Amino acid sequence: MSDNIDKEDIQSLIDFLNQESIPKLTNGPKVMEFENAWGDWLGTKYNLMVNSGASANELTMLALNYIHGEGEVILPPLTWISDISSVIFSGFKPVFCDINLKNFSFDLDKLKETITPNTKAIFLTHVLGINGLTDEIINLCNERNILLIEDVCESHGATFKNRKVGSFGFASNFSFYFAHHMSTIEGGMICTNDERFYQICRALRSHGMMREMTNENLKEEIINENPDLNKDFIFIRPAHNFRSTELNAVIGLSQLKKLDSNNINRIQNFKYFMEKLDGSKYLTDFEMDGQCNYAFIVVLREQSFEKRDALELVLKENGIEFRRGLSGGGNQLRQPYFKKNYTIDYNDFKNIDHVHNFGWYIGNYPSLEISKIDTLVSILNKL
Ligand SMILES: Cc1ncc(COP(=O)(O)O)c(C=O)c1O
Repeated sequence: MSDNIDKEDIQSLIDFLNQESIPKLTNGPKVMEFENAWGDWLGTKYNLMVNSGASANELTMLALNYIHGEGEVILPPLTWISDISSVIFSGFKPVFCDINLKNFSFDLDKLKETITPNTKAIFLTHVLGINGLTDEIINLCNERNILLIEDVCESHGATFKNRKVGSFGFASNFSFYFAHHMSTIEGGMICTNDERFYQICRALRSHGMMREMTNENLKEEIINENPDLNKDFIFIRPAHNFRSTELNAVIGLSQLKKLDSNNINRIQNFKYFMEKLDGSKYLTDFEMDGQCNYAFIVVLREQSFEKRDALELVLKENGIEFRRGLSGGGNQLRQPYFKKNYTIDYNDFKNIDHVHNFGWYIGNYPSLEISKIDTLVSILNKL
């Protein structure tokens, strides 16, 4: 994998720091400028920068819990740990539904069975740049009054019906960590068109402090409910400090200018890779419409541990970096933090176990040469 941050980004940071009077460096105007630019790019009205994708996940769930109370949140077992921990930390009950092997999102039939009258939200992950949305999922959420939350931390620029994912759900989360489609060193974003949710997120980004909200009517309501308190220090819920610094936002503004052109390269690389990969040995019949991947996806058709070990050996011998299990290292339900506290019937999770044991991702970055993709494919197809 290769980092996105280049000399131009570093120069923008140097220029920012080199101003005659030292600018404010904690969350301030640059963060807001980046939030606005991000909203223009994605098409969402309210955008809130935080210090990581994991913080975006947790802040989203804390705010949902504050507004809507307790209940169940449906998750895929193929996601990053922070999606699940955010659900647990914020007081929701996590409920799981297996994935499908076409776009790595929910198995639709199973999703319908998993919904109960207590389902508050469906927390969908767009895995490694592949759109996970379908009309059925969106309709299901609308009909059953369930909030759809999109985790887009791995899929900046992927589309569903020619519209960017992350602009469909009630809220969405992005990460700007190393190797993702764009980077702010560390960073994340929460996006929504719902003003109340945004205002609550603003407060919960800063310790739960009401004064961070920008809607005077909402603030007035809270002040009136707490006449004994100084309005500068009203904390509406136990929360964290998830704020970004200005430095990360300056890098974000510089990176955002290159996101679309970098994505074109990634999309072309991924298509080229998939076309060359031997479909008799590897899964290649993915739903590719709107894909925008920062990693190649390799999943063995056969459930063979012998082939798995051979594949890992040959990649290592050739100095090719890889990660087994796709997003988050595979089946989250097999992790100690989960097994310790929950009982689970793994027979209900056959697809995720396939990916857990026989799936990998390998870096796809904008400057990757075609010759390297050819070498990779030839190594994989020879196995
Ligand atoms: C799907 C998903 N959600 C959340 C995160 C967390 O993002 P961060 O590493 O910025 O905390 C990641 C991280 O890679 C991820 O892949």
